[in-house]
Amino acid sequence: MFDVPLQACVAAASARRATGQGDPVGTAKKKILCIGTSALTSPIAERLRASDWDVHRANDLRSAHRLIVEHGLRVGLLVMGDVDEPRCAELDTFLGAHAQLEWVGCFDADSLARPCCRDLILAHLFDHHTLPLDIARVLSCVGHAHGRAALRELSTPELDRADAGIVGQSAAIVNLMRQARRIAHASAPVLIHGESGSGKELFAHAIHLNSPRASGPYVPINCGAIQPALIQSELFGHERGSFTGAVSEKRGFFEAADGGTVFLDEIGDLPLDLQVNLLRFLQEGTITRVGSTREVRLDVRIVAATNVDLEKAVAAGRFRQDLYYRLNVLPLHVVPLRDRREDIRLLAEHVFRTYSAEKRPSLKGFSRSALQAMDAYNWPGNVRELINRVRAAMITAERNLIMPSDLGLKMPQDVQLINVLDEARLQAERSAIRSSLQQSGRNVALSARQLGVSRMTLYRLMAKHGIHVPNG
Ligand SMILES: Nc1ncnc2c1ncn2[C@@H]1O[C@H](COP(=O)(O)OP(=O)(O)OP(=O)(O)O)[C@@H](O)[C@H]1O
Ligand SMILES: [Mg+2]
Repeated sequence: MFDVPLQACVAAASARRATGQGDPVGTAKKKILCIGTSALTSPIAERLRASDWDVHRANDLRSAHRLIVEHGLRVGLLVMGDVDEPRCAELDTFLGAHAQLEWVGCFDADSLARPCCRDLILAHLFDHHTLPLDIARVLSCVGHAHGRAALRELSTPELDRADAGIVGQSAAIVNLMRQARRIAHASAPVLIHGESGSGKELFAHAIHLNSPRASGPYVPINCGAIQPALIQSELFGHERGSFTGAVSEKRGFFEAADGGTVFLDEIGDLPLDLQVNLLRFLQEGTITRVGSTREVRLDVRIVAATNVDLEKAVAAGRFRQDLYYRLNVLPLHVVPLRDRREDIRLLAEHVFRTYSAEKRPSLKGFSRSALQAMDAYNWPGNVRELINRVRAAMITAERNLIMPSDLGLKMPQDVQLINVLDEARLQAERSAIRSSLQQSGRNVALSARQLGVSRMTLYRLMAKHGIHVPNG
């Protein structure tokens, strides 16, 4: 279908936005791309123009693609009428390559009954409508889609700046990023605490990347993973012959980090005798290699992390109080995932995109019930657990959408209840329309009056329920 390398053009479009060549949000006319035959797109395009939209029209996906690249469009409206499986597959590729736009789709009722079309909607679309179109509804919908696209563009640079790949839009994570950026500019030690898997290491790296030392080395050390007998020489180095096996002199991690940052993970596991050496470094800025008496002055910033309560460790005599005070100058608390639930779906989608090469091509994303089950789950293992569950689900899922059971999660009771209510509401709607049409002798205008809705709304509802009436 496409002769142009899609990724290259998508990159060009995002580069244009990044360099600010796109319209600043809210100042210019809103732009929209309408894709479909002119018979299908003309009525809606006219109304969009009358509502002051800058409308671009494309008959096929190739020219649509060119328009997106040339005009930096934010919203796309697909008016497709009938879509069969091969067409769905084409659209799937196309929409996947242009995920930077918010898409709204319009299909006929027969297409909507097809699983491939429903999968397409769930995987790519902001919203969808049934033909014949209720134009007022579509106008309001594309307005919302435009607002959402603009918001997304505004929030992206904020996330990019903290770097290290931190994903999240919750108030808690935005606040943490703000704190991290502020902390990054100081040179005092940082103590990060938070539950396992919550992102402490990611924040430590972000602090380094945003600091004036960013071009210097970043040396992460897991204090719990080094053999106690070796830890002193690993951290501070040794002179030749200082102990059996020290056949040559060695620089330690601290010297290797000169001009940069040392990240001391699981600081609570640092043996008490080493805590003295670290305290000396924090007080005087010098270290001494094992087997040497010479002090080496270093310019190293310390960022430490712990998932145990260090105050308790101090009370139990396992951690030096003076070291705790020295380290805890700039504390940062990484909030557990269950306390920033708005990030769950965003992280899940991020993991899905990151590992998409490992999945079956037909796997399109998350089912609604999977999203609800993830929202309701407590995530004791935080983001690491979410990554592991989603990756495993992507490999084992048998349907086109990931289900709660693929994630090893249960459907919460209240969500089951909501689904039952939704279904009951739909059934009541369906049977009211059927009996009204029967009573009116299948006269849509009369039924619409009886039911207290407009004729267009009744057509839309009929299409939604697959109820057909010849001519209206
Ligand atoms: N906000 C986030 N956005 C994207 N990825 C994240 C985020 N938070 C954590 N991760 C990812 O989750 C995994 C665990 O994060 P990290 O290693 O930073 O946690 P931690 O708090 O250091 O855990 P532990 O206490 O077990 O060492 C990593 O793969 C990390 O990249
Ligand atoms: Mg860690």
